[in-house]
Amino acid sequence: MKIDKLFLRRKSVRSYSNREIDKETIVELLNATRLAPSAVNYQPWRFFVCSSDEIKQQIVESYPRKWFETAPLYIVACADKSQSWKRAADNKDHGNIDVAIAVTHLTLKAAEMGLGTCWVCNFDANILADALNLDKALEPVSIIPVGYPTEDISLETEESKKRKTVDEITEWM
Ligand SMILES: Cc1cc2nc3c(=O)[nH]c(=O)nc-3n(C[C@H](O)[C@H](O)[C@H](O)COP(=O)(O)O)c2cc1C
Repeated sequence: MKIDKLFLRRKSVRSYSNREIDKETIVELLNATRLAPSAVNYQPWRFFVCSSDEIKQQIVESYPRKWFETAPLYIVACADKSQSWKRAADNKDHGNIDVAIAVTHLTLKAAEMGLGTCWVCNFDANILADALNLDKALEPVSIIPVGYPTEDISLETEESKKRKTVDEITEWM
């Protein structure tokens, strides 16, 4: 699929069918994810694929929304602060940036495969960290529900995306 079309197809899906996703499909997604660039190529990311009823219920507690419950599976993307690059000049930790790029790969690949995803960051980080028994060095960056959408994801257009124009976001110097 041409990348411009893929950019339109990737949208936040907030309604999923109960069709299960097989492991091969998830591995294909993660293979696209791990090709993302990262600062100094440190790849400071860790992904938790959560599909058991027990763990899913705990994840929903960290972000209690009806639509969110419909996902058959969640991938929790974490930044490993023990592995991420820190800029020498000001010690800025680039782990979150690296994970965001990786999640972008994931969500675009999912859209290409006909799967729906949604970035979710408005979760309770303490509940989520407890649910996954996260090591202190791991910071949860995003929960990505993954599933087959109940809506058509091929209908987005430049207009329906409602984005700022190039002029609004650019300074030419
Ligand atoms: C960093 C980030 C955090 C987000 N967190 C949430 C969230 O917690 N809940 C939610 O429903 N959508 C969340 N979204 C989805 C945005 O609302 C959505 O991407 C935006 O409105 C553009 O719509 P689109 O993804 O359909 O193009 C988040 C998106 C990003 C990039």
